[in-house]
Order: sequence, then structure tokens, then C-alpha cells
Amino acid sequence: MRSSALILSAATGFVSAHFQLTYPTWRADTLAENTTFDQWSYPCAGVPYGTGNKTEWPLSGSGASVALDLHHPWSYVYINLGLGENATNFNISLTPELLNVTGKGEFCLTDLPIPSNITDGQNATIQVITNGQSGSALYNCADIVFRSSAQPPSNEVCANSTGVTVTVVGQTATDSSATPEPTPNSAPSGTFGLLSRASSLGMVIALILGVSM
Ligand SMILES: *[C@@H]1O[C@H](CO)[C@@H](O)[C@H](O)[C@H]1NC(C)=O
Ligand SMILES: *[C@@H]1O[C@H](CO)[C@@H](O)[C@H](O)[C@H]1NC(C)=O
Ligand SMILES: *[C@@H]1O[C@H](CO)[C@@H](O)[C@H](O)[C@H]1NC(C)=O
Ligand SMILES: *[C@@H]1O[C@H](CO)[C@@H](O)[C@H](O)[C@H]1NC(C)=O
Ligand SMILES: *[C@@H]1O[C@H](CO)[C@@H](O)[C@H](O)[C@H]1NC(C)=O
Ligand SMILES: *[C@@H]1O[C@H](CO)[C@@H](O)[C@H](O)[C@H]1NC(C)=O
Ligand SMILES: *[C@@H]1O[C@H](CO)[C@@H](O)[C@H](O)[C@H]1NC(C)=O
Ligand SMILES: *[C@@H]1O[C@H](CO)[C@@H](O)[C@H](O)[C@H]1NC(C)=O
Repeated sequence: MRSSALILSAATGFVSAHFQLTYPTWRADTLAENTTFDQWSYPCAGVPYGTGNKTEWPLSGSGASVALDLHHPWSYVYINLGLGENATNFNISLTPELLNVTGKGEFCLTDLPIPSNITDGQNATIQVITNGQSGSALYNCADIVFRSSAQPPSNEVCANSTGVTVTVVGQTATDSSATPEPTPNSAPSGTFGLLSRASSLGMVIALILGVSM
């Protein structure tokens, strides 16, 4: 998996195969060429806890957002939360639906679903994972402290580029009605199309779990 990913990245250009975590502030610039950090490396691109700054992050609302700069034509995007200092278990998903983000550029997910029992002063780490068709995953982490007084990022920092669109996997782009969409844990029944999407979704989930366990 890793070697095919490396071939892919060689073909598309090294930096273009990576992504930037713009907000909250990442542990370190893992795109810089003068470091040994490696976005292929689970769980945080090889950047140790304590390398970067801690961002005060709100407990709810539009400020509870994660901003990325994506360099792929499309990516699956996962945002996970690990509680405590130096978390090693990123077992709270803030993206319960599998997101397929199409287009290169800025992408900022807002109003992330923070568990309601998290309180002011809780330390945590946000882990962002992206992957594409090959199944190999890229990682970046940002350390945060939850603060009810935290200021949301500016509209410049948290923005969606024109041409960046999002679909929930299993739901068609035009399907904007209130149709319930399959979640990673529910096997949809019905059309062949849904079933084939569900099985590719299963493969993606299996690959992510395989990489991260
Ligand atoms: C890497 O280069 C940047 C400037 O391009 C510099 O600010 C930074 O300190 C360098 N980091 C290391 C670890 O040398
Ligand atoms: C952490 O904050 C200091 C002071 O604001 C800044 O100089 C430094 O570049 C920041 N480090 C990172 C990794 O963003
Ligand atoms: C964080 O945890 C890792 C793995 O348990 C450990 O190697 C490292 O020393 C810890 N870092 C800090 C700053 O405590
Ligand atoms: C998440 O991981 C932490 C630390 O290992 C553990 O205490 C907690 O029970 C886990 N929570 C869930 C929902 O798995
Ligand atoms: C994700 O989006 C890309 C580009 O729009 C598309 O080629 C791909 O099939 C989509 N993946 C899924 C599982 O819908
Ligand atoms: C919040 O609740 C979840 C699930 O009930 C639990 O795993 C987690 O440890 C709790 N977090 C805190 C900060 O109490
Ligand atoms: C959060 O981390 C800081 C160190 O960065 C520590 O002083 C503080 O006690 C931690 N807070 C909690 C609630 O554990
Ligand atoms: C960016 O698009 C996502 C998905 O449509 C949306 O949830 C989010 O609020 C948008 N971000 C901004 C800053 O408008």
C-alpha cells in the first residue's frame, strides 16, 4: 500500500500529494522540506506531542471548525478527536459520515459535533486523515484545549474555495432532500448502485482501520 502510494506521489509531485491543516494550528509544518516529518506516518505525521502550540478551541458552534488546504483532485476526509494530553487513541469521530471532498483548495468544516460531556479546559488532539482511491492515508494533528471563551477563526482562515464541493459517500450530489443516507455502520439495502457504493465504502473503512490499528 505504501509503495503504491509512493509511486502515485512520485507521479503527481511530492508536495501536491499532501495536505495542510490550517486551523487549528498544526503541530508542525509537515510540508516543509527541511524536516523528517512524514504525512504517511500514523498517527500524527511523526510529529511528537509538545512540538507545536495549543489552540484554544470552542466547545460548540461555527468556531468548532477545522480548516484544510487540499492538494488532491478529491479526497476522503476524516476528523478524529483524542482526549487528554499526548492522546494516542483518536477514538471520537467528528465526521460520522464519510465525506468525499472534490476540488483542490481551502476546505473548512464548521459546527463539528463535539461530545456534550466535554468541558472547559479539556486538553485534546485533533487528528485529520485524508485518503484517496489507493487507500493509503495522510495524517496531520493539532493540539487543542477546549475553551468556552475561544474565538472562532476569521473568515479568511475558515473558508471554502470556489469549486470545492462535498458529498457524503452513499448519497448522490443532487440528493439534497432529507433522504437518510447510509452511515459507515449501517448496510444499505436497495439498488445495485447503493450496494456497490457500500462495498467500496467498506473497503475504505477497512483500509483506514488497517492502517490505524
Ligand atoms: C526549515 O526552514 C524554515 C524556513 O524555510 C525555517 O523557518 C525553519 O526553522 C527550518 N526548520 C528546521 C528544523 O531547520
Ligand atoms: C507557536 O507560537 C509562537 C508564538 O506565537 C510562534 O512563534 C511559533 O511559530 C508557533 N509554532 C508553530 C508550530 O506554529
Ligand atoms: C507521548 O507519548 C509517546 C507514546 O506513548 C511517548 O513516546 C512520548 O514521550 C510522549 N510525549 C510526551 C511529551 O509526553
Ligand atoms: C477512547 O480511548 C480512551 C483512551 O484509551 C479510553 O479511555 C476511552 O474509553 C475510549 N472511548 C471509547 C468510546 O472507545
Ligand atoms: C469521490 O469523488 C470523486 C471525484 O468527484 C469520484 O471520482 C469518486 O468516485 C467519489 N467516490 C465515491 C465513493 O463516491
Ligand atoms: C464522554 O462520554 C464518552 C462516552 O460516554 C466517554 O467515552 C468519554 O470518556 C467521556 N469524556 C469525558 C471527558 O468525560
Ligand atoms: C492541560 O494541559 C496543560 C499543559 O499543557 C496542563 O497544565 C493542564 O493541567 C491540563 N488540563 C487538564 C484539565 O488536564
Ligand atoms: C464549507 O462547506 C462545508 C460542506 O458543505 C460546510 O459544512 C461548511 O460550513 C463550509 N464552510 C464555510 C466556512 O462556509
